[in-house]
Parts: sequence; structure tokens; C-alpha cells
Amino acid sequence: MAVDAFPSGFAWGVATSAFQIEGAHDADGRGRSIWDTYAAQAGLIEDGTNAALACDHYRRYLGDIQLMEALGVGAYRFSIAWPRVLPTGRGRVNAAGLDFYDRLVDGLLAAGIAPWATLYHWDLPQVLEDEGGWTNRATVDAFVELADAVSARLGDRVTSWITHNEPWCVSVLGYAAGEHAPGRRSWSDALIASHHLLLSHGRAAAVIRGNAPQSKVGITLNVSESEPASPSEADRISARQFDGELTRWFLDPIYFGRYPEDVIEYHRREGRLPNGMSFVRPGDLEEINKPIDFLGVNYYSRAVVRSASIPEAENAPRTVVPPNPAELTDMGWEVYPDGLTQVLARVNADYQPSSLVVTENGAAYATGPGPDGSVQDTRRCNYIRSHLRACLAAIDAGVPLHGYFLWSLLDNFEWAFGLAKRFGIVWVDFETQERIIKASGHMYSRIIRGNKISEEQAA
Ligand code: FCB
Repeated sequence: MAVDAFPSGFAWGVATSAFQIEGAHDADGRGRSIWDTYAAQAGLIEDGTNAALACDHYRRYLGDIQLMEALGVGAYRFSIAWPRVLPTGRGRVNAAGLDFYDRLVDGLLAAGIAPWATLYHWDLPQVLEDEGGWTNRATVDAFVELADAVSARLGDRVTSWITHNEPWCVSVLGYAAGEHAPGRRSWSDALIASHHLLLSHGRAAAVIRGNAPQSKVGITLNVSESEPASPSEADRISARQFDGELTRWFLDPIYFGRYPEDVIEYHRREGRLPNGMSFVRPGDLEEINKPIDFLGVNYYSRAVVRSASIPEAENAPRTVVPPNPAELTDMGWEVYPDGLTQVLARVNADYQPSSLVVTENGAAYATGPGPDGSVQDTRRCNYIRSHLRACLAAIDAGVPLHGYFLWSLLDNFEWAFGLAKRFGIVWVDFETQERIIKASGHMYSRIIRGNKISEEQAA
């Protein structure tokens, strides 16, 4: 019989990140981050908003903890704003910045919620970007300082640590595609940045273990299955290349201590490695390839890949998998729950992580309060249920999945899309800061309390 309940001890969580919810950018000595700079440039944020206030969580965190308590959430994944702790990137620690996370952690623990801290969720201090950002190897040392300061202070209470969130997005979207801060457009920079991110992960993990020996340390990657858009050979090759760039480029160094040869070759052919792999120094891969306690997987949708490299006429048949528009979220992302089962099973088979955790999964839908004040976000309810079933299917197939974090607790600042893309299970009125638990929040709460997706809720 298929597994219908989650294992006991399963971590039921919600996730957020500092820049997306905190606001209070000038409070208590916080420095400037690359996202402040990026969001301030005209035309880069789709809806013209910024995150200066966002959810005002820096001031309202106690109320937000109460919301989580009301939902029955067992774990909260949040991130540390580097510019609050080290306003100049390295060197002087800003005590007031660390104090905020200290209070947050104490508040969570008092509410019976396990804190899961992410050290880097994209808000690099601007001063470090001015010195080259993640393409500068010295940023690795600065990140280790951050890891040291934060884990020395919180490591007696925080036992779950995530070094980086989605280094593919940081490097490729930030340094090659220009779609995220710092907005560069250089593939060569992106690949150098990706290596420094991985190296900083390995070094920070060692520092956290030194400061907090009881803790579990992992990293979070965005992983999707890459499927060819058609059965053509060209699309098959492109899908394999994209998988290499997105997934194997990060997981192979972590688990096998090497970059995948075919992906190096591919990047070389594309002219992205003008100086070869010279940014990898002796010993780096050994530092990256240290055992981790869990791998965090963020999953939203699958990747359907079509070759752009050859003329259409030679790439037949070019039938693109047609996502049904009814099943797209507001991000334009296809709702594809089977992909989550596939991703978990694939990562498990290829890398045999000791433990897997879904550190983000969720959907953007704009649904707001109706006449009675309640938020009936039925499509989000369906999305969550179907993806939790996908988790159960993975567990059933033997995947060591130990937790699930819904993205997100609150509607928040969705990076280059601004405040208009709402991922929360709690509605936020960005004018009044009122919060309303959506129908999806109530449903998630019932699932958590039952540790299963009950029949009565099946769509
Ligand atoms: C992920 C990010 C997270 C959020 C979701 C929708 O890539 O980690 O901050 O923006 O996407």
C-alpha cells in the first residue's frame, strides 16, 4: 500500500528570506546590499516597487512568530541579512544587527518552532560587489567571517544551517543573465562566481561545525528535471546541457569533488571559460567535497528545454510540450507536481544524500480577500496538496525526505517581479501591513496537525 502519512519527526516548515520580508533597510546600522542598488534602478523591478518596507518583518517579527504558532508550523527557514551583521562586508560586526536574529531565534524557540538559518539568500553587501562580488575570491573569506560571527552567536540554539540558497540563481541570473542583482551579463563571471560560492559553502560549513558541533549543515539548490521540448536529437542534447549547467555543475563538486567534464567542455565551446578552469585552485574541490548533513531542494516547476542552436527546419519535430494555461501560476510556471517526485528520486539515485529536505515549494497567485474578508486561494491549495502527494510518492520510493518548507509564509518582495507576485499562505496588505491567513494556510495547518493529506481534502 502506498505511503499516505509522513514519517514521524518530519519537519513541517515555512520559508522566507531577509531581503524579501524585513524592510527597515536603514535601521540599526544595516549596510547597503546589492539588491538595494538593483531595485533602485529604474525599470529593473517589473511592478516598480521596492523592498524598503516589504512586510516590515524587522519590526513585526513577534506577530509573525505568532502567526506561525497559530498555523502549527514546526520549523521556520529564514535568512540572515549579511549587511545587517557585517555592514562593510567583513571586519566590524554590527551587534545591533546580530541582536535582531538573536531575538528572532529566542522568539521561535519560545513558540516551539525550530529555527533553520540560511546564511546567504542573495543580499551581498554592496561594498563587496564594488570589489568584484562573487567573482572576487576574497568574498569567500568575507563569507566565512559572516558564518563565523553568526554561528558563534546563534549556534547554541540554531541547529539547522543552510550555507547558500540557490547558487545557480546567484551566479547565472545575477552574473550572466543580468536578471538579478548585481545585474552583470558575463558567463565567464558567472562560472567564476559559482566556484567561489561553492568554495565558500565548504569553508563556512566547517566553521559552523566548529562553533556549533551539534548542528546539521546543508546547502539548498534549485533543481528541476530538464526535459527536451521534442524528441529531436538537438533538443535532447540541449536538455542534457541545461541539466549539466543547472544541476550537475553544483552537485558533482559537492558529492564527487569534481566538475562534470561534459559541462566544462560545453562551457568552453560556448567561450565562457577564456582562462579555462584556472579559478579552481589546488585543494578547493576537497574543501567543497566535505560531507553535508542534508541537501535542500527548491522545486517550483520542470524545465522544458528547446535547442536554439540549429535552424528550425533541422530540428524536427518541434512539438513543444504545451503547458495548459489553466495550470500556470502567476509566474508563468507550469504546475507539474510529478517533477518534484522525479527530482527527489533522481538526486537520491545519483548522489545518495544522507537526507533530503524540500526547502522551498509554492506558487504565486494574486487571489486576495473576498467580500467576507477571507482569502479563498483554491489554486494554491491544489498546488500544495499535489506537491505534498509528490513528496509522499518519493518517500514511498525510498527517498530519505525529512522535511518540507512551504514558500512562503507571507506575500513578499519577489525580487525582479516586485510585490505583485504573491507566494504567501498569509495575505499581506502592503499599505496597512494587515495579515490574513489564506485558505491555503488553514489547509496547510490541518495537514501539519494530521501529518498527512486527509481524504476529505483530496480535490
Ligand atoms: C526561489 C527563491 C525565493 C523565491 C522563490 C519564488 O528561487 O529562493 O527567494 O523568490 O524562488
